Amino acid sequence: MKRVYIQTFGCQMNERDSEVMAGLLQGEGYCLTRRIDQADLIIFNTCSVRDLAEQKLYSALGRTKDYKQGNRRVLVGVAGCIAQQEGSRLLKRAPQVDLVIGTSNLRRLPALVEEVSRSGCRTVETERDPGYPHYDLPSVRATGVRAWVNIMYGCDKACTFCIVPHVRGEERSRPMEAIVEEVRGLAGQGCREVTLLGQNVNSYGKREPRTTEFCHSSVVRGEYSRESFARLLKLLNDTPGIARIRFTTAHPMDLSPGLIGAMADLPKLCEHLHLPIQSGSDRILRAMGRGYTYAGYLRKTRLLRERVPGVAISTDVIVGFPGETDEDFTRTLEALREIRFHSLFAFKYSPRPFTPAAAMSDQVPEAVKEERLQRVLQLQETIARCLYEGYVGKFLEILVEEADPANGELTGRTRGNLLVHFPGRADLIGSLQRIVITQALGHSLRGKGVHGRQ
Ligand code: SAH
Ligand code: F3S
Repeated sequence: MKRVYIQTFGCQMNERDSEVMAGLLQGEGYCLTRRIDQADLIIFNTCSVRDLAEQKLYSALGRTKDYKQGNRRVLVGVAGCIAQQEGSRLLKRAPQVDLVIGTSNLRRLPALVEEVSRSGCRTVETERDPGYPHYDLPSVRATGVRAWVNIMYGCDKACTFCIVPHVRGEERSRPMEAIVEEVRGLAGQGCREVTLLGQNVNSYGKREPRTTEFCHSSVVRGEYSRESFARLLKLLNDTPGIARIRFTTAHPMDLSPGLIGAMADLPKLCEHLHLPIQSGSDRILRAMGRGYTYAGYLRKTRLLRERVPGVAISTDVIVGFPGETDEDFTRTLEALREIRFHSLFAFKYSPRPFTPAAAMSDQVPEAVKEERLQRVLQLQETIARCLYEGYVGKFLEILVEEADPANGELTGRTRGNLLVHFPGRADLIGSLQRIVITQALGHSLRGKGVHGRQ
């Protein structure tokens, strides 16, 4: 049996695409291996959202030279956003690459691998595939308890720093009934939690390929209602077996009252929202093309907290966007102090090809970006510690995801997406447990069980 090693860089969309690639290759007789040195086929599923992510690919590719020596023929493929961005340039830059496959071409992966191994000719396929999205393809999911489910692809926004619209194309939604069917199937296989994936889930419903009478006969091709996403959530909330629903990512500009209402009303929809703020300065938000002001963002988070008590909000922050002054940066720190996010991802601005911000004149020096990044992280550490300590003594519902047989510990997540460790038996995986929190750790909580199985 041939073995494939798949390494994924970047976001959840890439994680999901890797599951699809694994499914397609399994259908061709490949088995997955965790040992890169034993693989017949190595695939890097790549991210190009920041330069650092790109560098990671090139160092990983450098290491494949060792595996390509010797008698065994090893094929190396590059998929994902760098593949889409670079196309045939990748073949020139990295002589060890045999196959480059774009973000919309996954369906062709088995045929391309076959072709390359037969002919020995290096191949590139990054032309947009009209048959994309590829939600009907088989997949091998990484876990049984939680699953990623694509609901839309691409992004129609034009944030001036972001390469995603270039490498992932325009927004396209997946038909509602196909999503509901997939989630029902997952529930039948024992999955308890689904995370709905899209670059901008609030736009769900836009460019849905066809209408059905199933649930939204008023939605016609090319048009959509801002409340399509809330309607999808309501339908999924009725799926037996599924205990929890999450989604990522929501755009602050489009966070609608309907979605906030759905979060307040639907019992399975978890009290967690990832809502990227990027900056606390209106000047910078305007230059980023984000379409909201800090006051507007704050208003939405307040409304959300009012309607959904205990909701955990996480965010993304970019420091050192072109033209960001000390004063702009101070606004970001003030925003973090005022909103008090449960967690955040902070990034140094990284100029990306094909993006307007890369051509802006007043780029911020690396040392300043680094210093600002550290200040954001330090401030967030203090805020998170305080928020986490507030959970001690509280009773929370945990979905058990993993067991560590070495120490008899279970790990699961709260509805707010906080990690909790507690002692328990491995057969509790997949169950909901009521846990009392006994200790706040750096980025997680410790607790102990209160009741038996629910
Ligand atoms: N809507 C998307 C955003 C994708 S990019 C989603 O589903 O999450 C994820 C995050 O990377 C962005 O929110 C932003 O904070 C960061 N990012 C994007 N482009 C960047 C760049 N050029 N430099 C630094 N950070 C960037
Ligand atoms: Fe990127 Fe902005 Fe879309 S961050 S993915 S262009 S919403």
